[in-house]
Amino acid sequence: MLVNLRDICAIAEQNNMAIAAVNSASLEAIRAAIEVSEETGYPIIIQHAEGHEQLVPLKYVGPIVRTLAERSSAQICLNLDHCEHLSYAQRALDLGFTGVMFDGSALPYEQNVEYSQRVADMCAEYGAGLECELGSMGSREGGERDEGGTAEEAGAIYTNPDQAKDFVEATGLDILACSFGTVHGIYKGEPHLNFDVRTEIRKRVKVPLVMHGGSGVSDEDYVKAINAGIRKVNYYTYGAKYAGEAACREIDSKRAKSDSAIIYWHDLTPVAYESFKRTFEHVVKVFANGANPVA
Ligand code: 13P
Repeated sequence: MLVNLRDICAIAEQNNMAIAAVNSASLEAIRAAIEVSEETGYPIIIQHAEGHEQLVPLKYVGPIVRTLAERSSAQICLNLDHCEHLSYAQRALDLGFTGVMFDGSALPYEQNVEYSQRVADMCAEYGAGLECELGSMGSREGGERDEGGTAEEAGAIYTNPDQAKDFVEATGLDILACSFGTVHGIYKGEPHLNFDVRTEIRKRVKVPLVMHGGSGVSDEDYVKAINAGIRKVNYYTYGAKYAGEAACREIDSKRAKSDSAIIYWHDLTPVAYESFKRTFEHVVKVFANGANPVA
């Protein structure tokens, strides 16, 4: 069933767990996400990043995920990820998205507040949940995938805890994406999460908190972050990387048998799907943090 962003994060809050928010950049990832949620009994967020418009246009991905979510026994939220244009948010809401993440983190603070408020009004009309970002991960979702590095190299700006309180009150957002050491893309070394920043934010705001740049983080750090109040973990890059590597292995193994082996696209999609499924099953269970299935 299709669930609102606010409600799915409330489930996470009640159960001291986080919901995996995986990106819908291919049918293989969408199918794997839905099946993992149905099989494990844990809710899932499937999200389309505005920056992935070139890979999968909104007009295709919206109706596909919405229809599948409505028919599924699992609790699934359809969220717009890193939306920077109000017109794009409007299109997603018209297509039935149940959540919007507006990313004004690159704007001066006052403008971030102003645009976030406008998206809050739009979401309210449709009953959709709203996520906004304060502080910056540096590198952007949908950009070059090896741009991550460390938080410092990516130009990340940690969320200011006092400003976070003001931002939540001024915008009326439902969940807050905050920056405390993760980055989008591939980590060039161990990610160093600053739990002090996160703890100070948690002291000042009551809304559920979101970890962006969530793939590539250790299971131990996921658990620490969840126990410290993270309720949604955005997970894309490493899942896509593992699926790409699985497809390469498939090509290598066919070519090892015969140099002239024909590689069909349909030889690779099942391999990618299996990889996404293994990855999502692992993270969904880690993010459940010992909670019983909630479906
Ligand atoms: P990763 O690049 O770490 O997978 O983060 C994804 C993300 O935050 C999407 O918004």
